[in-house]
Parts: sequence; C-alpha cells; structure tokens
Amino acid sequence: MTVTIFVPRDAASLALGADKVATAIAQEIELRGLDARIVRNGSRGMAWLEPLVEVRTTTGRIAYGPVKAVDVASLFDAGFLSGGDHPLCLGLTKEIPFLRQQTRLTFARCGVTDPLSLDDYRHYQGLKGLERALAMPAPEIVQEVTDSGLRGRGGAGFPTGIKWKTVADAAGPQKYIVCNADEGDSGTFADRMIMEGDPFVLIEGMIIAGIATGATNGYLYTRSEYPHAIETMNAAIAIAREAGILGASVMGSPYAFDMEVRAGAGAYVCGEETSLLNSLEGKRGIVRAKPPLPALKGFLGRPTVVNNVISLASVPVIMDRGAAFYRDFGMGRSRGTIPIQIAGNVKYGGLFETAFGLTLGQIIDEIGGGTATGRPVKAVQVGGPLGAYFPRELFDTPFDYEAFAARDGLIGHAGVVVFDDTADMLKQARFAMEFCAIESCGKCTPCRIGSTRGVETADKIARGIEPEKNKVLLADLCNTMKFGSLCALGGFTPYPVMSAMNHFPEDFAPTPLVEAAE
Ligand SMILES: Cc1cc2nc3c(=O)[nH]c(=O)nc-3n(C[C@H](O)[C@H](O)[C@H](O)COP(=O)(O)O)c2cc1C
Ligand code: SF4
Repeated sequence: MTVTIFVPRDAASLALGADKVATAIAQEIELRGLDARIVRNGSRGMAWLEPLVEVRTTTGRIAYGPVKAVDVASLFDAGFLSGGDHPLCLGLTKEIPFLRQQTRLTFARCGVTDPLSLDDYRHYQGLKGLERALAMPAPEIVQEVTDSGLRGRGGAGFPTGIKWKTVADAAGPQKYIVCNADEGDSGTFADRMIMEGDPFVLIEGMIIAGIATGATNGYLYTRSEYPHAIETMNAAIAIAREAGILGASVMGSPYAFDMEVRAGAGAYVCGEETSLLNSLEGKRGIVRAKPPLPALKGFLGRPTVVNNVISLASVPVIMDRGAAFYRDFGMGRSRGTIPIQIAGNVKYGGLFETAFGLTLGQIIDEIGGGTATGRPVKAVQVGGPLGAYFPRELFDTPFDYEAFAARDGLIGHAGVVVFDDTADMLKQARFAMEFCAIESCGKCTPCRIGSTRGVETADKIARGIEPEKNKVLLADLCNTMKFGSLCALGGFTPYPVMSAMNHFPEDFAPTPLVEAAE
C-alpha cells in the first residue's frame, strides 16, 4: 500500500527548509524504490517543530520534527515509513500536548489535509455548512450567525451577525463581501495559516456571507508580503470555480457568488476597514470618516460586509454544527473559540485554538512554556502594536474581550508577544509612538503630529531631560490621541505607551543624561 508522507508547504515551514526536505524525501523514495507519496499539507501551527513531517500509519499519523534535509536518509534508515523510532520522532501527532489541548473548530483541517484537494475538503466535513445554508432562507443564516455569538476576529470584536443584518437589510442592486486578510498585527499569522492551509474554508465562509446578505461578489484583500497565501488562494478559487462552487450558480443553486484576490502593498493602516476599501478601489489607503458605515456605503459606495479571515472561516463550522454548538464554547460575551497566536520570546510559539477563557498566565507559562531564553517573562503584548503591555500581575486575566478591556487591554486579532526581563519598556513605548508615526495615514492631527511628538518626548525621558515633566506631557499627549483620533491607530497607540509607563515605572525612572554617561 502506498504510504503517505506529509511535508508542510506554508510560508513558515518553507522559510525553515520544507522544500529541501520534500526534495530529499522524494530522492530517498526513488533511490530505495519505495511505494510512497508526498502530500504538501498546511501547518499544524507548532512553529518550533517546523518543518514537521508526518507519516500516515495504521495507528495514526506519526510526527517527526523539526526535520532538516540532512536528517532524511536517517529517517528512512530508521523505518519512518512505518513510524519507526528516531531522535526526531514525536509520536502520534494528535497526542503532542500542544495539539491535544486545543479545541480546533476553525482550524480543524489545517495541517490535516492537502489544502488544494477538494476531495480532502469534502472528506473532512467541508461544504456541509454551505449545503445547510443553501437550504435555509437567507435571514435564518444571519440569525444563526447572530445566535452563535461570533464576534469579529479582526480586532474590534463586533458581532458578525449584526453586521451581516445591516448589509442584508440595506437596499442596493449590488452588495459586496470583503475579506480583510491584511493581517498587519505583530505576532499574528492565523489568517495566513488558513489561507495557506485550508483555503476552501474561507471561500465557503465568504459564499455563505454572500448568500446571507445578497452579495454576489467578494474580494479578498491581503498584502503582497503574503505571496504563498495569494498563490494558494488563487489556486483554490480556480478549483472552486471549476467545481461549480463559485460562479453563476453556487452548487447548482439559484445563488451566484464569485470572488477574487487583491494584494495591497502592506501598510498597517490598510487593515483598517475604510482605508482598506479605498486601497481596494485603487485609491490611497487613507481612513474614511464614519458614518457612513461600510455596511451601508462600502466598496464603490455599495453595502459591504468587511470581515476578518477568521470571522469568515468560522462560519462554515457554525452553519454545519449549529449556533448552539459554537456558542457553548467560551465565557461571558466571548463565545466560541479563538486561534491564539503565541509569538515573540517564547519556548513553544505557534497557533493554539481554544475556547475563550484561558488565563494569560496559562497561555504563556503552561502552553507557551515561558521564554525561549529561559529568563523570566517581563511583559506580554496582546492584540498587536496597539495592544497594552501586561505585567505578570495581570496574568490572571482570562482571554475574553471584556476582561481585557476592563484592564485597559485588548485581544485584537489574538496575537500574544512575549518579552523577557531584558526588555526596556521605555523603548517599547517609544516604538509604539514611532510605529504610529510611520504608519499614520495622516488624515487627523492627533495621530499625525501627536505620534511624532510622542517619539520626541520618549527620547527626552530616555535622555533624562526633565523626566517628570515629560512623563506628564507624554500622558497628556496620549490622552489627546486617545480621544481626538479618527481611527484606532491613533486612538489605541496610547494603550501600549500608557501600560508601559503605568506597569513598568522603573523603566521610566529619571536617569542621568545618557550623553553625559557616555
Ligand atoms: C489601524 C488598524 C488596522 C487594522 N488591521 C486589521 C487587519 O489587519 N485585519 C483585520 O481583519 N482587521 C483589521 N482592523 C480592523 C478592521 O478595521 C475591521 O474592524 C475588521 O476588518 C472587521 O472585521 P471583523 O468584524 O470580522 O473583525 C484594523 C483596524 C485598525 C484601526
Ligand atoms: S488616527 Fe491616524 S491612521 Fe487613523 S485616521 Fe487619524 S491619522 Fe489616519
């Protein structure tokens, strides 16, 4: 019987040599005259084990990793085609603790299937949600998504069903579904993993959104820095079109839906939905004033759903298993699961999908295994460059939108970046201001000018120039940016700055003039 070997093809494993590993495996198969084939799967999301090679055996899939091309011959010598023992053997993939502890709903197929095999997709429950949606009146689909409690995974946590209802109720001959795949937050890669590892789930989610709201066209907006995601999505769209899943008659139904990929140049602000729409229309990526909401006047002035990749990719499982199934996971008003992306200075970095409710401490210490350097964790930034820095004293915060907001933090796109005790939080605060200054679209004064003044003020504190006065000034500046900015880039930059100042005052303490010391 032909043995199946899985070698991932996502950007992270490619960066770590997956192509070379696949070539070496193919050569050994040829050389040894073995009956085996290679499937290029998506990533399982355990970054420290990439490239993670798996072999399908009678007892299940056995994992080996991280594998380098030079290890390949010894793997064959050890009989890895039948799960033979080897120093790189990790046992059954599903028993690896990092995977075993997860609740994979949105990422159920990621790393399991061949991303571009529709047969695989169907075999693992794919298209079941769409089939159910096609048999329902459109308002019931919207109700199902509302009842599931799904909230936008792009950052703001707005209820997806309510957004869909606004678009469904809006009058207009043409409506659009726009998938926000800009994924600009630091330490995040969930969108990329879905696009590269299970593209059909996103296509299915976008089609369901189209049917629910009356939109017949979709755009997937991503960045040019994601070439593998773009390639995989384009290939998957072509396959779906060929199979009659996309097109004039979605799976033989009276509904039409088609979509295409658009790549932006990679400005952080182009992830903000109105700026994204401008970029999609070929204009400069500058933020639009709201109202009007994109749901009423979005792409080309038409009613438009703008949803994050993970929001849309979570819809098929909701439609397949039902709203109550999904809603049963989570805590408070944060329902379902969330793919937490653990990154930075951490031992076990990767994607961990779980129900809302784990504490930050559990995520960092138990799942992430602490820092990669082995030094104490000093701070954790959750929610990208606009997220607050949390010290260990706040590690009892549960992963929940409201719990984070109550502590002046945010979950955002669920990126978690870990820093050890060598981090200088004044430098991090300065970096937040500098990032805002570089990425600001320039439309409003508090953000455009305030961020540059913020950098200067942080520099003065670092140099010991009237530190007490400048700390007051920095806080005042943050206040102006928070309440006077048009969008969350200027409005949330104060969160990393103020959290650094409030939780790590020792790093902002008066120091002698650096120049003098030097
Ligand atoms: C500066 C800025 C950058 C953003 N970047 C992203 C992004 O990369 N991806 C994303 O999905 N949402 C991003 N957002 C949030 C979007 O504006 C919007 O809320 C989101 O696409 C809505 O989708 P959701 O409801 O499914 O989360 C950003 C917002 C701001 C203010
Ligand atoms: S806050 Fe910054 S990014 Fe947002 S609209 Fe104002 S200038 Fe543009």
